[in-house]
Amino acid sequence: MRRKIVAGNWKMNKTLAEGTELVQEIKQKLQSGSTPQADVIICPPFTHLSIVADLLQSTNIGLGAQNCATEVNGAYTGEVSAMMISSTGAGYVIVGHSERRAMFGEANEITAKKVVAAIQAGLTPIFCCGETLAERESGQLFDVVKAQVSTGLFSLSAEMFAKVIVAYEPVWAIGTGLNATPQQAEEMHVFIRSLIRNEFGEGAAENTSILYGGSCKPSNAPELFAIPDVDGGLIGGASLTAKDFLGIVYAFGQ
Ligand code: 13P
Repeated sequence: MRRKIVAGNWKMNKTLAEGTELVQEIKQKLQSGSTPQADVIICPPFTHLSIVADLLQSTNIGLGAQNCATEVNGAYTGEVSAMMISSTGAGYVIVGHSERRAMFGEANEITAKKVVAAIQAGLTPIFCCGETLAERESGQLFDVVKAQVSTGLFSLSAEMFAKVIVAYEPVWAIGTGLNATPQQAEEMHVFIRSLIRNEFGEGAAENTSILYGGSCKPSNAPELFAIPDVDGGLIGGASLTAKDFLGIVYAFGQ
């Protein structure tokens, strides 16, 4: 059975004090509430990782970064390596988020290097893919996602690929309040799983968690998570309050 996962991507939000408060609230609510039916992961900014790792000790809540360097170490001012992330106690890293692709020139080849760097440092990459509105409207959506997934992930060995979580994030649904309909999400998740099946076989396809991201909220999470090929969510805006984030976590049931 593949894992059900709800991961919060805080993006560039929350000071250290605000982030600490949010983590404490999420932790307390999860400890006093019923056991969630999905694994919970929090991805705060780099500066918060070490402190949040301490706060999350002896909980089941996972911790991830939002990006990592392609290189292991050296003269790369401002970069943070996967090994540095791992050394904070984090276990995950988001790779190839559309905001990094669009704003920081992260091409498919760069995401491929980051995935390798992450796995070699012992991290689980949460690999993002997804099309823009123009790409969807011109009918290129499947070609775009195929190129992202195959260049980003298909040079891995089967053993390395087994560590990967995929997140489908249609760019037109991110931060816009628009979300993919269940049919649109299902169609793309089935397509991504078929790409994995063709490359790594049935077992890998069945075992890979594919998350949906893009204006996922407590109100629409139940219908999205009811789709058999949607294994959870990568949540942006709604991960910034404990109420909304946990509303989405509990969309899998209590
Ligand atoms: P929103 O949930 O704010 O649309 O962001 C989704 C996302 O980019 C998560 O990585």
